[in-house]
Amino acid sequence: MRRVTPFNSSFDAALVRDSYKKVLEREHHLARLFYEKLFAKHPELQSFFSATPAVRAHQEKMFAMMLVAIMDRIDDSPWIDQEMAQLGAKHRRFQLTDANYHDFGVAFLETIAHVAGADFTHDVERAWRGAWDMLTAAMKKAHG
Ligand code: HEM
Repeated sequence: MRRVTPFNSSFDAALVRDSYKKVLEREHHLARLFYEKLFAKHPELQSFFSATPAVRAHQEKMFAMMLVAIMDRIDDSPWIDQEMAQLGAKHRRFQLTDANYHDFGVAFLETIAHVAGADFTHDVERAWRGAWDMLTAAMKKAHG
């Protein structure tokens, strides 16, 4: 089947997918780890989120499920475009800045790097960066 490269950006989708699969096998609470890291580095972002544990747990689950869905379709650019636009629209009310997206992305990649350990090679890192840039660009379009 022909592979579609989203938005002319080039990243190795298979590498990202494989890395994410391995990370999830190693760490079943990836989303929780990620939010802990995000809030430790950027306490100001905590105010966007509910402090209620059950709501927090729900948010972690939504984030984790979205990532699994994304990984399934990461090389399907029409799906990514549509899904990320919807997700971006849901985020519009928070009036997020480029800096918020940047901090969020860095904390996420650091979480992946932490769990992946030695498997987080330069090639894997490059692939993740490409994928994340593509996802956030598609989300931000909905802010316009
Ligand atoms: C690629 C980047 C991102 C992804 C994949 C993502 C994913 C998600 C998902 C799946 C939800 C649940 C949406 C729903 O209710 O259906 C959500 C909600 C939310 N996201 Fe994001 N998000 C991203 C970026 C960000 C950024 C940069 C921020 C702010 C720093 C942020 C803050 C929030 C907040 C505050 C909520 C609502 C939480 C609540 O209802 O308590 N997100 N996000």
